[in-house]
This record gives sequence, structure tokens and C-alpha cells, in this order.
Amino acid sequence: MKERITIFDTTLRDGEQSPGCSMNLEEKLRMAEMLDRMGVDVIEAGFPIASRGDFDAVQEVARSVKNAAVAGLCRAKKTDIEASAQALAPAKRRRIHTFISTSPLHMKFKLQMPPEAVLDAIAESVSAARNYTDDVEWSAEDGSRTEHDFLCRAVETAIKAGATTINIPDTVGYAVPEEYGALFRMLIERVPNADRAVFSAHCHNDLGLAVANSLAAVEGGARQVECTVNGIGERAGNAAMEEIVMALRTRHDKLSYVTGIDTTMIVKASRTLSAITGFNVQPNKAIVGANAFAHESGIHQDGMLKNAQTYEIMTPESVGLKRSELVMGKHSGRHAFKNKLKELGYDLGDNALEDAFKRFKDLADRKKDIFEEDIIALVDDEAVRGKNEKIRFVSLQVKAGSKRPQIAILEMAVDGKVKKSKATGNGPVDAVFRAIRNIYPHPDVWLKLYQVQAVTGGTDAQVEVTVKLDEEGIIVTGQSADDDTLVASCKAYIHALNKLIARRGREPHEAGP
Ligand code: KIV
Ligand code: ZN
Repeated sequence: MKERITIFDTTLRDGEQSPGCSMNLEEKLRMAEMLDRMGVDVIEAGFPIASRGDFDAVQEVARSVKNAAVAGLCRAKKTDIEASAQALAPAKRRRIHTFISTSPLHMKFKLQMPPEAVLDAIAESVSAARNYTDDVEWSAEDGSRTEHDFLCRAVETAIKAGATTINIPDTVGYAVPEEYGALFRMLIERVPNADRAVFSAHCHNDLGLAVANSLAAVEGGARQVECTVNGIGERAGNAAMEEIVMALRTRHDKLSYVTGIDTTMIVKASRTLSAITGFNVQPNKAIVGANAFAHESGIHQDGMLKNAQTYEIMTPESVGLKRSELVMGKHSGRHAFKNKLKELGYDLGDNALEDAFKRFKDLADRKKDIFEEDIIALVDDEAVRGKNEKIRFVSLQVKAGSKRPQIAILEMAVDGKVKKSKATGNGPVDAVFRAIRNIYPHPDVWLKLYQVQAVTGGTDAQVEVTVKLDEEGIIVTGQSADDDTLVASCKAYIHALNKLIARRGREPHEAGP
């Protein structure tokens, strides 16, 4: 029988406290609704005494949440506890969360209170909170740096006063897993009536150990984990909810616990939070990063196509993604390229595929991000080119910029014979088109349309150029894609010219050189 771990989400309190993550009331409500739907057990909605805005947000969240308990944070002060109780009043299930520091450092410098006075404050604050609700959580701030004997006395005092959850935060992210897990074991063993409370882990990520410490605490006896979506929170953040939940789910062979979280909502929650705060997660962030289910290396892509379990320990569907992504880039292999073309509706023969693959590799060497549109443009460009073109692009060099004249030096093969021309023009495109006309004159043909379109984003975007040529009412369209606008322009023009030649069954102008 797997034991249930309570997920206490503090995105709206500890998460919101981090620089740049503040949320207004409407945003907190949106996030709370999402957390409630995904099955979070306790939503810590804010610190009601901190400001009018925080009070109102906690009150509105309390009013709107349907399933989860709603918690409000307060110091060990009557005014704080009253404010929390008032803000939480509309909640179906309310929890008052009161805290005080217990480490020698915090008691001496921050609180400037002797340990005995701290114990008194614990008893008073917890009893005061119990006047408003049966669900009272007490936290030992800087608990992981507290002397064990004193921590035992503090926890005993809190339980005696009526605390039903005992939270031992690693406030400054200092603990290591083995030590933090042992702390819970020690408390549960030594504190009288420890079984009357649920023990809780609350870990910060200063050493990147927040999730590992939380899992160690669970193994040490904690049955509540405090966490935030995307791991936002003070300094380096809190333990990330998605990582804890997916670790428990994926490694149930080692960690025999369950949560009530609908994991298929994880990505949605992560993206909602990013959209609200403007805080995007790093691409390689576990579970929710853009690369968490993306593969670029040819060897990995090949493995993925044969059996996804070769390189994925969770399914993308389990976190709410439609599928994994085989990212097309310079490391991709033929297998993945062919697969991508199939997905895009192209079924190329072996030779065409080989040509397209070479062009793709060329492009990938020059361009960092290859999007599906790049591949479509690249394959379409290949497909529209006939095998027996009269005119063939060889090379192009252009001098452009603010100093005139712009100059194009073009090498173009006509019937397999390479010719060269240097032309000037009113701008680089005009110079390029004049160079084409120099090598292959076609005076009766005029340019009806010239259009450039970026098919992907970024300064290294691939562009698609469309050229329409008109010869006595016969209109042809040429297209080309390249990451160099002038090369794409030149090739699009040549493409159109070849079509015109083929269409008329004769050269557009008799006087071809
Ligand atoms: O990190 C911490 O100690 C806290 C407490 C207030 C629970 O956030
Ligand atoms: Zn914290």
C-alpha cells in the first residue's frame, strides 16, 4: 500500500516573494484555480499581514478554491494570526501557518530573543491559531541549522499547543540529503507525540539540492512536501513541484509514495506561471524545460524512433505534452529527417531524399534553429527544380551597403557552360537581376512581382523569395529559399526563367548568348 504525500504548494507565497515574480490579484486567482484543478492539497495563497493586496488575494483565493485547503502565512504574532484568520474565513478548508526562527543565528541576530522566549512564542502563536481552525501548521524557520535538542523542544511545544503539521524548513538551502532525511528520523523518534502531527519538508535550492533533500525527508518520515511550480522562490528558489511529483511517480520502485497531482496538467501549470510572471524556465529544466522531451543527436533520434524508452524515462503525455520532439539540427541523422518529411507529408524517393538531406545538412551548418517551415521550404525548393534546367546558378557575390553602386558578380551556367558577369544596379537585388540579364538576355520579359518572406524567425531566418516573370502575357512564378536573401532572389529569378523556357518550348528571347 503506497503512502500518500501531501503536496503543499507555496508558489503564491514563497514563490511570489522572489524578485520579479510578484502577481496581482487576478493572476493569483488564475494560478490558484490551476493548482486546485491539478490536485494540490494545500495552496499557500500569501502572507495576509504583509499588505492590503496580499490580504485581498488570500481572501479571494480562499473564496474561489473548491478542493484544496488554503493557507495563509503569519509570524508568531497575534496581529498576523488575526489577519490570516480573517483572510481565510471564506475558505472551505483553511490552514493557519505560523512560523518563528529556531536556529541560534536567527534567534540571536534576527529575533534578538532568548530560546526560552521563542518557546513561549511558539506555544502562544499555535494556541492562538487553533482558536480559528483545527488545521494549524507550525514552521521552525532555519530548522535545518537548529541544534537538535532545542529543535525537539520547539516541535514538542508546537504539537502540545495543537499544531497538526510540523514543517522543518531548510530555509537557506544548506542541508545535504542524508543529513536532512536523518533530521526527520531523529525528530519523529525523539519528540513525544510526534505521531499527532504530519511532518513537512520545505527546501530551498541554494545548492541545487532542494528536490533531493525533499525526497530524503520523505524517506525520513515527512508526509508533506512544500514546493512551487517551476521551482520559483527566494534566491535560487524552492523545490520544484513538477520534479518531486514526477520523481515519486517515475521511481515508484524505490519511492513507494503517491500524490494527488494530475501530472498531465504539469506543463500547462508551468506555462501559465511563466506567462503570468514573465519568468521563462531554462530550456534544460527538468520536466518542463523546452528540451526536456526534445532530442537532436542522430543516435538518440534513431533510438527514439525505434523505441522511445531508449532515451525517455517518462512519456511526454504523462506531463501534458502531445509528443516528444525530434529537433532537426546539424546532429540529426537520415532516419529522423526521413521521419520528419513523412510527418510533413513528403514521400521522397531515395535519390531525392539524399539530395534533400544534403541540403538540409548544409542549412543546419549555417543556421542554429531549423523549423518545420525551413524543411518545407527546402524540400519544395528541391522539388520544383527540374532535372534539365537550361540555366543553373553557380555562385554569387554582392557588394551592398550605403555606398553606391551596388555590385553583383554572378556565375551562372547556361547549357552547362559557366559564364560570369559583373553588374551594377539601383540596390543589390537590381544588380543581381541585371547580372542574370547580362549572361542570358531576355529583353521581352519583365519582372511582375518580387516578394521576400522570412519563413522562420531570428536574424538567421531562412527567407523565401517569389519572383513572377511576364513574357507577353505568359506568367511564370519562381521560388527559392535560402538564408541569404540575395542568393534566394537570384535562384528564384533563375527558377522562373527556366520555367518560362520550358513552358514556351523555346527560349524566351531568341538572342540567347
Ligand atoms: O523558507 C522558510 O523558512 C519559509 C518559512 C517561512 C516557512 O519559507
Ligand atoms: Zn521558504
